[in-house]
Amino acid sequence: MIQRVKGTQDFIDMRLFNFVISQIQKHLQEYNFTQISTPILEHTELFKRTLGLHTDVVSKEMFLIENKSASDPEDSICLRPEATASTVRAFLENGITELPWKVFISGPMFRYERPQKGRFRQFHQTNLEIIGSKSINQDALLIRMLDRLFKDKFLLDNYAILINFLGCYEDRNKFNQELKKFLEQITDKLCQNCLERKDKNPLRIFDCKNPSCKEIYLKAPKTIEHLCKDCDAEWKQLQTTLELTSVSFAHSSNLVRGLDYYDKTVFEFSSADLGAQNAFCGGGRYDRLVSEISQEKYNQPAVGAAIGIERLLLLVEMFQNKLPIPELPSLYLIIPLSKDQQLLALLLANQLSSNNITHDILFDDVSVKSLMRKANKMGAKFCLILGSQEQENHEVTVKDMTLGTEQKIKQINLVDLIKKKAF
Ligand code: HAM
Repeated sequence: MIQRVKGTQDFIDMRLFNFVISQIQKHLQEYNFTQISTPILEHTELFKRTLGLHTDVVSKEMFLIENKSASDPEDSICLRPEATASTVRAFLENGITELPWKVFISGPMFRYERPQKGRFRQFHQTNLEIIGSKSINQDALLIRMLDRLFKDKFLLDNYAILINFLGCYEDRNKFNQELKKFLEQITDKLCQNCLERKDKNPLRIFDCKNPSCKEIYLKAPKTIEHLCKDCDAEWKQLQTTLELTSVSFAHSSNLVRGLDYYDKTVFEFSSADLGAQNAFCGGGRYDRLVSEISQEKYNQPAVGAAIGIERLLLLVEMFQNKLPIPELPSLYLIIPLSKDQQLLALLLANQLSSNNITHDILFDDVSVKSLMRKANKMGAKFCLILGSQEQENHEVTVKDMTLGTEQKIKQINLVDLIKKKAF
């Protein structure tokens, strides 16, 4: 048998998934975000230029598509690994001028990672961005808005908010030099990957999963100790605003978030209940990305985040009994007892569908007992049984599958009685 591709999954029941997505959409619309959609296919160059050549996502995890028709072999396309770069591309390509542009995208992303609990090669994100806003209070509002989403709409309380402040571009460059000096002194203790990162992109050492490297980096210089005056004031302002708006958070000095485009604020929502892949939402400020993609002097400061839907689902599953997940509508199952009643069943189904009543027909010509068993398995609330007698008398037997009771009614009255909730 041909099986699904490694690291992907089938969703056999979409109810919880759809509930989660619709709650997020509702919440974002309450905060004046507009839903947009961009292609899953993008030019590989878009991500190479923005996420950083030395990030894991670009160097190891891209799903490249063979583009046979491309005249230029360099014109590579890929499945999007994330949606921030795509949103910025769409912002520029569509000439958006109304600022700030507050938008979100929900859909699949693709990364060639080693699959494990909460980590897939095809996964889903709701990605939100605010493009064209400089104020650090926008970052605080975004973090608070996400905190309210997880607390109010999903009743979660088993997570922490981790925040770090990287400083502006100049601060980052200076910090990289400091970090390099620190790493030069301990080269014998570093893994091969970190040795390469030290020379190419020192900040990326904090993405290392190696326990001994992680241990060493607890003593590494801290970004918040190397901020310019303005950034230091913004970092303090961010903390004060979060405290004043009742957002509990912890400073995590080694949080750098695996992608090169961040400046200043970076944050993650993380839950110990998820195991090793504990971040279910992450984001930050990216004040240079617009100019990097436009390759012109035009720039806009921006901030955003992405929610990992599969990981959020793992958390929401724990509380799903308490959540207002919409009930499925009652199923009215039409059962013609022989082939002779099948046409009548179709006519009855027509009436139900024109009145938006959820229904189905069982055409299988088997014993009544097995038909009833099947109706139960299908979760039918009522069976509408049509035998030869019912056909002759223009009647239908309505069987209440919860109570087990039966009543005969005239076919002509069926829709009216259903609408009056008589059964
Ligand atoms: P990210 O941290 O790479 O950020 O991904 C955001 C979230 O997507 C993660 O916290 C995690 O929940 C989920 N996620 C990532 N990779 C996987 C995977 N392989 N399997 C399952 N879930 C996964 C970004 O993507 C940035 N674009 C976020 C952002 C938006 N920053 C600014 N704006």
